[in-house]
Amino acid sequence: MKSFDLVAKIYDLINRLRYQRDVLDILRWLTITRGKKFLDIGGGTGAIAHLLFQKTGCRMTVVDSSAGMIAEGKEKGYQAEWLQADPVKTLPIASNSVEGAIMVYTLHHIKKNQQIIALTEIGRVLKKGGMLLIIEMDYHNFLNISLNLVEKLVTLGNVWFISANKLKGSLNKAGLSVDHYEKRQQGYILRTVK
Ligand SMILES: C[S@@+](CC[C@H](N)C(=O)[O-])C[C@H]1O[C@@H](n2cnc3c(N)ncnc32)[C@H](O)[C@@H]1O
Repeated sequence: MKSFDLVAKIYDLINRLRYQRDVLDILRWLTITRGKKFLDIGGGTGAIAHLLFQKTGCRMTVVDSSAGMIAEGKEKGYQAEWLQADPVKTLPIASNSVEGAIMVYTLHHIKKNQQIIALTEIGRVLKKGGMLLIIEMDYHNFLNISLNLVEKLVTLGNVWFISANKLKGSLNKAGLSVDHYEKRQQGYILRTVK
């Protein structure tokens, strides 16, 4: 995503305080172990992937469409594999090949009518029983409306928030069943199983 190229250099600085909390939540809801292959879809600079690798020794692949975000993560020496790709198009990954995936604050950057395409594509590459964990913002509070405006300004782009209920429906259509949902400060966390 081109707009993220513009903010890649300062992205970690702005977001570093929430990374630790996101990682704790991810590890609470996904069993991530050494050597297992996980995708971070829209993984940005790979800061979260790097923390997960440090804590578990898992093999993280950061999938992101922004060359700038990937370049930033590589420059920082984050431990991950890198794939400049977009789940709205075909991911260059074999079907039924990955243990699990995370998608943190990324879905709302994908156009509303393309979100189901992206979720279906992620479902394709997951192994049977593989899990996708989504962390998203909920648009319906004042802080998020403000954050949304800031994000629009900073990334110079549009955002398409989806409520947890609507997302559950889309995930079902994509062949993924929701087995865990939790409201979070400013949003929600959803776990799905293929
Ligand atoms: C708000 S950032 C989140 C980055 C990281 N997950 C985090 O929590 O810090 C959204 C990321 O999604 C990426 N992105 C947006 N749309 C995408 C798409 N269609 N395919 C792949 N990556 C995408 C952007 O380039 C950006 O790095």
